[in-house]
Amino acid sequence: MKKIDIKTSATIFDHLDELSKEDYTLMEKAVEARKKAYAPYSKFNVGCALLLDNGKIILGNNQESAAYPSGMCAERVAIWKAGSEYPNMIVKKIAITAASLNNTVSKPVGPCGACRQTLSEYEINQKENIEILFMGEVGKIIKTESLLSMLPFSFDSSYL
Ligand code: THU
Repeated sequence: MKKIDIKTSATIFDHLDELSKEDYTLMEKAVEARKKAYAPYSKFNVGCALLLDNGKIILGNNQESAAYPSGMCAERVAIWKAGSEYPNMIVKKIAITAASLNNTVSKPVGPCGACRQTLSEYEINQKENIEILFMGEVGKIIKTESLLSMLPFSFDSSYL
């Protein structure tokens, strides 16, 4: 028997103005996307902005439905929008932000498990890390160096 330690690392920023210009701009775009979210049921608005290596920024936000499980997270809306438009794209980084109509979200909101799994498909295929930046509406911003660093023991096509 052997016990192993899984280590990961992240950078935590106290303020948006500590981000690089590129990261700051991308987060601003995620905020823009968040404001257009369609989330009348959860009242939890999420915005996502993807930076592609061709310089394009692709936006997405959560889209809900009266049949609750039929909605979709911002991250998957954005990555599928990008993948459908630019099939050979390389995603450099993703910024995510969330705000609630019920309270002020001050904890950084990372992508849910299903979104991590979906995003990992693209990171694996492109063989280049995707940096992930996430925040609430206010407060600290977390930046990780790759998607897979947030998803240990993940499932991928090699198991099929
Ligand atoms: N949501 C996202 O858009 N991204 C996540 O990673 C977590 C959750 C959305 C789904 C739903 O519309 C609302 O937030 C509440 O769960």
